[in-house]
Amino acid sequence: MTKVVVPAAGMGTRFLPATKALPKEMLPVVDKPTIQYVIEEAVSAGLHDVLMITGRNKNALENHFDRAWELETTLLGKGDVAKLKDVTQSTGLAQIHFLRQGDPLGLGHAVSKARAHVGNEAFALLLGDIITEPLGALLRQMLDVHATHGGTVIALAEVKPDDVAAYGIADVEPTEQSGRVRIRSMVEKPAPHEAPSQLAIIGRYVLPPQIFDLLDETKPGKGNEIQLTDALNELAEDESIAGPVWGVIIDGEWYDTGDKLAYLQAVVTIAASRDDLGAEFRAWLRAFIDQK
Ligand code: UTP
Repeated sequence: MTKVVVPAAGMGTRFLPATKALPKEMLPVVDKPTIQYVIEEAVSAGLHDVLMITGRNKNALENHFDRAWELETTLLGKGDVAKLKDVTQSTGLAQIHFLRQGDPLGLGHAVSKARAHVGNEAFALLLGDIITEPLGALLRQMLDVHATHGGTVIALAEVKPDDVAAYGIADVEPTEQSGRVRIRSMVEKPAPHEAPSQLAIIGRYVLPPQIFDLLDETKPGKGNEIQLTDALNELAEDESIAGPVWGVIIDGEWYDTGDKLAYLQAVVTIAASRDDLGAEFRAWLRAFIDQK
């Protein structure tokens, strides 16, 4: 498997007004936009062929992964090798293709746009606003499950009972392997009393190509959007289509940077663990908390 699809065409309404003119995937977490963490995750799991689905304000996304000649020439002239490295880091990371979603009809619709690029192969789907840590560990585990057991693989994380209404939630049964479950069905944003578990779908998937036919048949669901979860449910309910649907429970951290609180948690956690900033930042943070 070589191909990765990264949807980054959402409206980002939870993060307005910052996302009025800037895609939420470009919001910086310390000094890198979220989307760069996502591409680095794909590359660290050995996937180099990226199709990014973009929407309005796509220019910032494309420019970030393009050369910046004026900047590079100026930094080279000054002999500032460290900053030059920062600027060029994103350019050669992967082979990135861009495609416009057109109408923002939901995540399922964005994924369906990838059909011509992906063809008849399994592929990874990484949501462009989610950061997972340690970088690449979860995706590598998911690719291993796919290589060994086939089928579809969906990343899950345990969330608090009160938070289930913000996510797709999976109904699961255990397997012989800890951290891997079998998914029976999924429900999008259930009320807490209707949630089949506290295992939320967090935006990392390994999908079979049959998903495209299923998405074509999926009618708009919640929020009048074409929901990926509805098509995934078809796979889970009938494993003769493309094999079983596995859940891999993340053994690490994940941040939905499209949510303000989770974004702040991502910035603080990642800053605190950085070699260059961490010590000073942690000392400041301790003093700040002591004052409150
Ligand atoms: P979200 O549901 O978090 O995106 O989609 P959103 O609609 O932008 O969020 P809010 O609720 O308005 O703040 C998860 C991922 O799917 C992409 C988003 O860009 C994000 O990376 N997405 C969503 C699309 O590419 N197209 C869509 O139509 C919807």
